[in-house]
This record gives sequence, C-alpha cells and structure tokens, in this order.
Amino acid sequence: MRIAHVASEAVPIAKTGGLADVVGALAKALGHMGHRVFIVMPLYRQTMNGPIDAEPVMPDIDAGEIRFRIYRKHIGPVDYVLLDAPRLFARPAPYGTSDGDYPDNPIRFAAFARAAILAISTVIGGADVIHCHDWQSALVPLLLGRDPLLGGAMTGTPTILTIHNLSYQGSFEPWAIDAARLPRELFTPEGFELYGTVNYLKGGILTASRLTTVSPRYAREILTPDFGYGLEKVLEARRNRLSGILNGLDTGVWNPSTDPYLARNYSRRDVTRGKRACRAALAAELLLDDDDSPLVAIVSRMAEQKGIDLVAAAIDGIVASGLRIAILGAGDDAVQNEVLEACHRRPGRAAVRIGYDEAHAHRSYAGADLLLMPSRFEPCGLGQMIALRYGTLPVVNAVGGLADTVRDLDTDPTGGNGFRIAQLTPEGISAALRRAAKTVRNPSRLLDARRRAMAENHDWKRPARTYEALYTELLA
Ligand code: ADP
Ligand code: GLC
Repeated sequence: MRIAHVASEAVPIAKTGGLADVVGALAKALGHMGHRVFIVMPLYRQTMNGPIDAEPVMPDIDAGEIRFRIYRKHIGPVDYVLLDAPRLFARPAPYGTSDGDYPDNPIRFAAFARAAILAISTVIGGADVIHCHDWQSALVPLLLGRDPLLGGAMTGTPTILTIHNLSYQGSFEPWAIDAARLPRELFTPEGFELYGTVNYLKGGILTASRLTTVSPRYAREILTPDFGYGLEKVLEARRNRLSGILNGLDTGVWNPSTDPYLARNYSRRDVTRGKRACRAALAAELLLDDDDSPLVAIVSRMAEQKGIDLVAAAIDGIVASGLRIAILGAGDDAVQNEVLEACHRRPGRAAVRIGYDEAHAHRSYAGADLLLMPSRFEPCGLGQMIALRYGTLPVVNAVGGLADTVRDLDTDPTGGNGFRIAQLTPEGISAALRRAAKTVRNPSRLLDARRRAMAENHDWKRPARTYEALYTELLA
C-alpha cells in the first residue's frame, strides 16, 4: 500500500513530544513491512535536527496564495516530504513560545493541510490512504473533496485521524475562517463549528473515514465529559468508527544494552549491576547525595496534563520518606518555577533540570529505580513503556494508556510491573512512592520485578499490524 502520514512533527526531524516518536516509528515499522510510506510534515528551518540536506523537488505548491517549496529526504524505509513556507514555519518552535501559541496558527495549519493534500497528489504521485494525526492535520479529511482551492485533488481517498491528545483541538475565533480561506459553508454544527468557535479537530472527527486514539482505555475515556474536553458528544456520534490502538516503542532507540548515552549498558542478566552504575552516574551529574536510597525520576513536558504541579507540592513528603528525586522537563513557566523552588530547598535530595535534553532523558530512565507519571490524563504515554524496558518501575496515575500498561505489584505480586497511585494528590503521590520504595529496598523482589518488566514486548510490530488491518479494511 501507499500510505501517506500527515503530521506536524516526526522523529528524527522535529519533535516536541510523543506524537513525533509515534509518527516516525509507526511509519518506519510500516515501511519495514513492505509498504511505501511517506511522512508529509512542515519544514521548521530553525528547529530541524541538523541542516536541510535535501534538494527541493519541483513543482512548488500553491495552497491558497501561500507558496510551498517541497523537499524530500529518505530516512530508512520512509520518504519524508517536507513542506517549506518560511513565512509560516521558520519560527523558534513549531506551535508557539512561552508567550503563547502563534496567533496565526489557524492560517499556518490550514495552509499546511492544503499543501499536504496537493503534495500527495502531485509530488509523490498519490496514496491509497491518508493517515492524519491530531488537530494540525485534522483539516485534511474535512477539506478533501470540499475545498474549491484543492481542485478535487485526492477526493475519495480514505482517511484515518489519530487523536494523540484531545486537549489540543485547534480551536479559534471565527475570524480564522476568512483568514485561512476556509469554505464558509463548513462553519456549521455538521462541519467545524463548535459553540461558535472554529474547531479543526472537530472537523476531522466528523469527516475522517476512521478514528483511532492511542490506547484502548483512552478510546473509552474520551466519550465521557471528564476526558472529552467538550468533544465527547461529537465522538459519541462516531463511536462505531473509533478504536484504541496502544502505541509501541522504537526498541532500537530505547535499548539499555546498546544505548550510547549510558554510563554502562545492561540487559536483564546484569540489570542490578548496570542500573547501580547508571544510578550513581545520574546522581553525580545532578549533585544528588551518593547513597543507596531509591531514586525517582520524572521525564516530562511541564503541562497541566502531567501533574507536575502536584509533584512540586509533594517534594517535601518524598524527601522525608528517604527518597531522592531527579526531574527533567520543560514547558509551562509557572510549573517550572514551582518545581525549581521546591528542589532548591532540598539540595542533595531533589534536583531538576529544565530543558529538552534527549541524552539526559536516556540517563534518567536508566539511572532511576522508579519513574513517576502522575498524569491527570494520558492518552498513551511512552515514558512508562521506556521505563519498563530499562528495568525502572513506573509509578502512575492509572488513566488512559497508563492503565492499559501498568499493573500494581502489591495487588499482583507475580504479574505486576509497577505501582498505581491510589489518590492523585501530593499526599497520594508520596504514599505510592513510599509503597514502591519497599519493593526497591527488597533485592529479590526488585530483581524479579525488573526482569519481568524488561521481558515485556512493547515494540511496534503488533500496533503496526493493527493499523495495516485498518487500512486494508478501508481499501476493501
Ligand atoms: P507527551 O507526548 O504527552 O509529552 P509521551 O509520554 O507520549 O508524552 O512522550 C514524551 C516523549 O518525550 C518521551 O519520548 C520522553 O522521553 C520525551 N521527553 C519529554 N520531556 C522531555 C525532556 N525534557 N527532554 C527530553 N525528552 C523528553
Ligand atoms: C500525546 C499524548 C501521549 C501519547 C503521545 C503519542 O502527546 O499526550 O500520551 O503517548 O501523544 O501518541
């Protein structure tokens, strides 16, 4: 099959979160299965990992008065098609800065959606299915066959929309319609109108041939008001087209026995020695006390979703329980400051590194005994799967993908692989960590749990086959 993914980020070219990991790794897995796979994404000149070492291909594309130059780059089995419109995408970051989202985002991602459709139809010579991800490409299914500016390109092509995070919807004031040159007649409840605003994700939800989200549990949760972010009724109306497919992990990138960033590589056989060396190195790097107390890590975007504000309030309790904590994260300024302040009060016991740091993330997963993910909601979550692979026991709030992947060791000593937080409060977080620390301090239970965690298989083979089956069904 010819499969075109349309997304706003994908590894190894641009990443702000798990979306990029998933798009890049899924495309690679499908490519290795023998499909012809494309990733169509914006070219972010300033945030690309490395220079554009690709030639532009002809012709340029005109997407509603915005001209895109097209670059192509083959990486492994995947053909990356990079859409370059510097006026819209040469910015310090893909979506916005600490001052907020770019005000012209509706224009940027409407132009991107159009240019993507046109690039698929002309430059790459068509596709059997178009697989879109999140609000940034959610206009693709809506505009296909409905937008006069597209001249009928790719009309009738089956589309899949994967929701990676329902809390980001691409919701704008109605001025966006004319500014982005969207057809006015689509501003209805059957189109992209939601309570008087323009909602790109809603447009995609109503028009994609199939909807998926990134874990079975989240697929059920988003039908409820608590997790639906105002779109639960829209989703309910299309629930027979909606399924949850648990993400995989790129096990080539995330492999403690070959990971180039670690102080010492290790596998299930020598996990105790390996992790001891990695933990000592991580503690030294962060100026944490050099002792044998359990080390908790966090690797996370700092956003409301991730519950890091609760961790800031829990730090005193965590430290009082004899644990050390190492936090890596970037994002919301207010949350960052809370964490910085809490950690500075506890030198030697709590440390934080603000920023996006791939190498340090690898060392955190490897060096920690426990990985803390107190998310308020979590569509899938990759951190807990990475942790398991590194023999690091996840301590999670059991929602979304976290509920689908983490089983509590105290309720299920022979089948468990981590710990579930009973109550999502600062006290609840400290209590779960205290409980987890008991296992960490018990060498035989710890070894048993680590080995079981590391034996789990979260690679992309199974999810990629499930997506393949979905595409096949659409083509039948
Ligand atoms: P989300 O996409 O909601 O941020 P996921 O758990 O799906 O959450 O994916 C997060 C990904 O980003 C993981 O690969 C994680 O290791 C990485 N990550 C998050 N924060 C940082 C950071 N500050 N530095 C490096 N990597 C990070
Ligand atoms: C989103 C979600 C995260 C998920 C990722 C990849 O960023 O917040 O839970 O793992 O997308 O699907």
